[in-house]
Parts: sequence; structure tokens; C-alpha cells
Amino acid sequence: MAASVSRRDFARLFAVGGSAALFADPAWATQARPAPALAPGGAASGEAFWKTVREQFVMPPDLAVMNAANLCPSSQPVLDTLTRETRGVDFDPSPNNRARLMPEKEQTRNALAEFLRVSPDEIIITRNTSESNNLVSNGLDLKAGDEVIVHADNHPSNLYAWREKAKRFGFTVVTIEQKNPHPGADYYVEAYAKAITPRTKVLTFTHLSSTVGDLMPATELCRLARERGVLSLLDGAQSFGLLDVDLAAIQPDFYSGSAHKWPCGARECGVLFVNKRAQDKLWPTIYSAYPGAVGFSRSFEGFGQRDEATMIALREALAFQVKVGRMAIEQRSRLLSTQLMAGLAKLPDVTVWTSPEADRRAAVVSFLPGTLDANKLAAALYTNDRIAITTRGGQDRPGLRVSPHFYNSPAEVDRLVAALGKYLKTGV
Ligand SMILES: Cc1ncc(COP(=O)(O)O)c(C=O)c1O
Repeated sequence: MAASVSRRDFARLFAVGGSAALFADPAWATQARPAPALAPGGAASGEAFWKTVREQFVMPPDLAVMNAANLCPSSQPVLDTLTRETRGVDFDPSPNNRARLMPEKEQTRNALAEFLRVSPDEIIITRNTSESNNLVSNGLDLKAGDEVIVHADNHPSNLYAWREKAKRFGFTVVTIEQKNPHPGADYYVEAYAKAITPRTKVLTFTHLSSTVGDLMPATELCRLARERGVLSLLDGAQSFGLLDVDLAAIQPDFYSGSAHKWPCGARECGVLFVNKRAQDKLWPTIYSAYPGAVGFSRSFEGFGQRDEATMIALREALAFQVKVGRMAIEQRSRLLSTQLMAGLAKLPDVTVWTSPEADRRAAVVSFLPGTLDANKLAAALYTNDRIAITTRGGQDRPGLRVSPHFYNSPAEVDRLVAALGKYLKTGV
């Protein structure tokens, strides 16, 4: 809120009703209540604590959404921040009021740097992982004769993007085959090591795959890249906000992530980490106004007008995660996934694509529910059982994908397993 906005203005800003209320507030806003406090004692106090974490989210209590790999809800503190900041700008869009937004953006950069354990002058605030990945594949000086190694299980923004740019710039894309089940860290380190040639300029992979939740050996693959003089791009869409990621230890050249997934930040905000040692190798893709204020962001982040409210909301989301406990969040999500894997193992005819080895997965679980139609099953789970998960179509490890996060509970996982058991018996 701008310092110049008076107490009376503030009240008007939030007023609903009367002739001023041109638009009705969404349900969550009309039910607005102060966000309840987190139970003292933190994760160590068990389900009582996690219940208060769940209460920070405006999803109805009976709705079990286990789809974090796709989209996470923002917590109420994040929603409140986003609303307040958005209204603050629309209430007074003057340059005078907006002047404070640039330092706010830098505060978000600082928060991202602290969260990822790197330095603010290595952080670019983007719109999402897709943009971050493409800023890398677009911005490197690659030409005919150069090679880029990708993993077949990468997201299109880090797979097709390279193949399309290869057509334009003339470099070659070498693809490491996907193996199911996850064959282990050594397999992938060896596969990448074998694929590297004197022509290799970049290797890229996904920290945690969105398909079946394969956890890749990020530290080892980035070390391999460094030792062989190759740049590394680590797609962190499924690790940012889920795992207690430490980029100072992993040391990729580039790391990408989205706010709207596991960090539970607002939508349309993302991050690109560009290691200092790689900054002189990356050309900007966009040249416009309003760059960042420090380091690489001064030359690379001139993306034009942005929505600072979203960035400030992301900062709130990161602070919320820190308050809950980052390691506690990772452990909670992993525990729920392990519980789900154990439940699936007891169901008849289910083929689980995700690795049974706990150190090869995290919190994304995919499986084929026997001969049941996955679309019908997902629809029945949502309509009849108030459980939201997603489907995986096509020929490649098809079926259902479940991605529980720290706002889910063991009871919700039990409910899902029981419902699956019911449909496997009765059909949908
Ligand atoms: C591994 C991976 N990379 C990139 C993306 C793209 O993320 P966004 O749509 O936020 O750009 C996704 C989305 O699911 C993903 O799973």
C-alpha cells in the first residue's frame, strides 16, 4: 500500500457493496477472514500443525486437490497480497504511487536468490518455466556443428524448443532415451557422459519429471557438465517449491521454475537463474524498458511493463514456505507419495510407472488404473468423491497422475486409494 494512501482511502479501496460495487467479489473474497495462525510447534507437532496449514488455503475443506505438478492454489496470505497490491495500483496508477514498485521487484529478486541459495545478480524474474527455458535455448550462440543433449522426458519447452531452434540455427540435438522404471542415477550419468563429444555445448534435463516423477541426479549431471566444459540447464518446474533446492550445491548454469506450481505463488511469474560464469554466453531475447536493477538483470530483464503485484505475491509465497519449513514441506509431500505408492501396490491390476525406490522419486506418482478409462475415472473421482487429479493421455505411460503437496493429508490419500479400489471393482 502506498504510504500516501490515507486510512479513509484504504477503506474505500477494500469497500464492497453499494453503487461502487460494479463487480461482485469472488466467493473466497466475500468469505474473507483473517488467515488463521499456524499452530505453534511447526511440523514436529504433526497433523494438528498440517491442519492449520490446510486452513491457509481457500479450497473448500472437502475438496482434495492433488495436482501440484500442474497448478497449485495460492495461500490466503498470497491472495491477500496479490489483491492488495493489484488494487493499490489500480486505485492510484500515478507514477508517484508506482515508483515504489521497482524496489519491490528487487525485494522479490532478493527473496528468490535467498530461497535458491544464490545471489540476486544471478536471478531473472520471468513469467514461467516455459519462458525461462526458451530464454536459454534462444539466447545461446549455437551454430552448425554444435550439439545439445536433451532427455526425451523433458517438457516441450525444453525439448521441442531445442529441436525447433536447431532447425533455425543449424545445431544438432542429441536425445537421451527415457527408461521406465527409473534405472537409477548412475544410468543417467553414464548415458550423458557417453553422449558428450567435443562438439557438445549444452546438456539439459528435468530435475523431477512431470510425466512419472523421475528424480534426476542433478548435482552429478551438473558436475559432469562442468568437468567437460558443457553448459547445463536444469528445468526446475517440478522441484522449485517442492524440494529444498540448493543451487549453490547443485551448481547448474541455468535453472528455471514457475511460481504457480509447488511454490503456491501467483500465476504468471517465474524464475531463471543464470550462473555468473555463464552470463556472458547468454544474449537477451527481449529488448525493452524496465530492466532489473542489479547484475545480469540490468541487461537481460528489460521485458517491458510487468505485473509487480504478482511478483510481490510470489515473495509472500516464498516467505510462507519458509515459515512452514522447506524441509518439512519436502518431507510431507514425499511421505504422502510413499503412502500413495503403498496403497496402489495393494490394488489389483494397477501398473505404477513411478519408481518404487524412494530416492528416485519425490511427489509425482503416475499409474495405469487397469482397464478403466482414465478420463472417466478422473471425472468420477472429481464428481463423486471430490478428489481432483489429472490424466495422462497418449501411448507413453498413460493413465492418471497424482501430485500431493503440503496442503494435502494422509486422510485424503486414503480416500483416493479407497475410491480407486471401489472403481476398480465396480467400474466407472
Ligand atoms: C518439467 C516442466 N517444465 C516446464 C513446464 C512449463 O511450465 P509453465 O507452464 O509454468 O511454463 C512444466 C509444466 O508442467 C513442466 O512440468
